[in-house]
Amino acid sequence: MPRTVIAALGTCVPDQVITNEELTRRMETSDEWIRQRTGIQERRWVKEGQGNSDLALEAARRALARAGWQASDVEAIIYATLSTDHMFPGDGCFLNAKLGIPGVPALDIRNQCSGFIYGLSIADAWIKSGQYRRVLLVGSEVHSTGLDVTTRGRDVAVIFGDGAGAALLEASDDPARGVLSTHLHADGRFAKELWTDAPGSIYHPRVQPRMLEDASIFPRMEGQKVFKHAITKMPEVVREALGKNGVATKDIKVLIPHQANLRISEMVQRSLELRDDQVWNNIQKYGNTTAASIPLALEEAVGALGVQRGDLVALAAFGAGFTWASALLRW
Ligand code: COA
Repeated sequence: MPRTVIAALGTCVPDQVITNEELTRRMETSDEWIRQRTGIQERRWVKEGQGNSDLALEAARRALARAGWQASDVEAIIYATLSTDHMFPGDGCFLNAKLGIPGVPALDIRNQCSGFIYGLSIADAWIKSGQYRRVLLVGSEVHSTGLDVTTRGRDVAVIFGDGAGAALLEASDDPARGVLSTHLHADGRFAKELWTDAPGSIYHPRVQPRMLEDASIFPRMEGQKVFKHAITKMPEVVREALGKNGVATKDIKVLIPHQANLRISEMVQRSLELRDDQVWNNIQKYGNTTAASIPLALEEAVGALGVQRGDLVALAAFGAGFTWASALLRW
């Protein structure tokens, strides 16, 4: 059976840097509050005219250039996002058009912060089954256009940033490399603890003026509940992966936790008894970019830590749904 390897990564973040200081001009908050609670110092926000699929396109182009592939080498697209350019169709089709690869299937998934690992799991199954040999997996988000950037929405608005990460996944016969396993979970009892209520097809009509007034078009979060579940479920799902593969935390070269909050990453690290050099965080620069956060951090970590072929890399995510997931791979 072929193994699924990451042939190349590519990322793209908007040029516009929004510092904590900048946010204090729009809402009652402070650099100190944001840093202490989340570790975030700045994030990137798109300017008008740059969409989710534009960020994804640039990330994909960078990955293609790095791998030495043409866009036409891609046999399937998996696109993870919660912030599509339009209600439908999904951004996978827009990316397909922008890459100029008509006919190539585009699967859109919306598993929020776990989207990249859910997507990796699907790509791995496709590659192992022989259905496709080369898959483009993208995690991309534009949060900034959907945030309540007033004091009313400050608990959520300070956390999220825009960005995209792409991974080119390829079938390999090298037994020393590739995805070892993925583990996916969801618990919909918590669906309304972190969600955007409206607009939605459950409402008649689905868009109503009152939605602007009652703020139901903005994401809402029970921050402390999210925090508590994240610090339990992320270590648990990493242990599940380690147990399944008969390896230990000491064997991990690097863990990439979804960049939800630096405090969450630190608690996950402590719970798993990992050293500082075994965990990579870059939320300080980008905020929480949901489906994009793992590829954004993974690309940086691979370069900065000199991850070598065969090194054990762990990915872990937790987010809205609630969903959570892990992946273990040999680089
Ligand atoms: N700036 C200043 N004050 C803020 C603020 C902001 N941006 N956001 C909220 N506050 C205020 C609250 O209004 C509250 O004020 P009060 O005590 O006068 O009522 C106070 O700070 C404490 O709010 P609370 O919500 O209890 O803070 P917290 O310690 O739980 O921290 C989060 C809030 C959001 C940082 C924290 O809950 C968290 O990180 N949760 C996980 C979020 C996450 O990771 N989400 C993504 C998951 S993928």
